[in-house]
Amino acid sequence: MKKSSVVIVEMGLRDGLQNEKTVLDADTRVEFAKRLIDAGTKRVEIGSFVSPTWVPQMAGTADVLAKTFALQKVGKLSKKAELSVLVPNERGLQDAIQSGVKEVAIFAACSESFSKKNINCSIEESFQRFAPVMALAKKHKIKVRGYLSTCFGCPFEGKVSEAKVVKLAQRMHKLGVYELSIGDTIGVADVGQVRSLFKKLKKVVPAKKLAGHFHDTRGQALANILAAYDLGITVFDTSLGGLGGCPYAPGATGNVATEDVVYMLHGMGVKTGLNLDKLLEINPWIAEKIQHPLPSKVGKVGRLK
Ligand code: HMG
Ligand code: MG
Repeated sequence: MKKSSVVIVEMGLRDGLQNEKTVLDADTRVEFAKRLIDAGTKRVEIGSFVSPTWVPQMAGTADVLAKTFALQKVGKLSKKAELSVLVPNERGLQDAIQSGVKEVAIFAACSESFSKKNINCSIEESFQRFAPVMALAKKHKIKVRGYLSTCFGCPFEGKVSEAKVVKLAQRMHKLGVYELSIGDTIGVADVGQVRSLFKKLKKVVPAKKLAGHFHDTRGQALANILAAYDLGITVFDTSLGGLGGCPYAPGATGNVATEDVVYMLHGMGVKTGLNLDKLLEINPWIAEKIQHPLPSKVGKVGRLK
């Protein structure tokens, strides 16, 4: 039976801030994490251990983690919130281990050009890099989440075949990731595509291990989430205000806004554990920090009281 609750994985601090021109210092990022967790967020991707030459916005992730853990330790922040970081390779994982984080995420693409532009290697090479990453993570009892990018289309190659996505999903699942997030990196997916792909994915990866990661470039993300939810998917990646995008996906806008998704789900009677009013208070605060308004619809006008 379908669950009437959904888990939101907050992307604002990573997928969001990685594409903002204004680089936020560690203290502001910690404050952002605190506000999100105080609003009920249980899973936060707090940054990434990638090359600072490639993504300067994510420099200082170790500091952000250390300060957030310190707040949790002294009881100023809920210990229930799970923090994770994105890592592209073994070097990134070693930094993650040093930081004391208990969860990381690895990522591969479904199109060669995007793989090359994003992590400077082929898809095959990226999977070869994952083997030692998975082994080291296991040794240190670190949970690993997986992402597949460009599952519905690539900014450089156009259409991506479903068969290729399904094959790569199966391969990443076999590596031992505990959850696999299916990325619409450039926000090109429509409901028809989502239904078709997730039906096929469910045959190779259990629905409870699949997540949806929709960017909202073409305004289809809410409909896509609903389509995936109807197929039994109950984990979705969202970003407060719809912050961000991907620095290596030209034209792509941010993840679907957390407030918009929560508004829709609560309206359907689906629990998220998030407090919409508190999320709405974060929107103007972070917009001021990054010096521009955010695209979230609900974030702009709030809700009827
Ligand atoms: P490279 O230049 O090929 O790396 O980059 P390299 O192995 O040749 O090393 C070059 C230098 O980088 C060396 O330093 C390494 O030590 C250093 P040097 O000897 O020159 O002083 N280096 C590192 N430094 C810090 N952290 C590391 C690291 N690894 C090597 N982990 C690399 C390859 C993968 C490092 C680079 O391409 C990279 O960092 N890419 C990350 C790009 C990125 O973060 N993209 C956005 C995230 S993905 C995304 O947004 C999609 C997603 O949201 C899902 C969706 O929407 O589809 C997840
Ligand atoms: Mg993304």
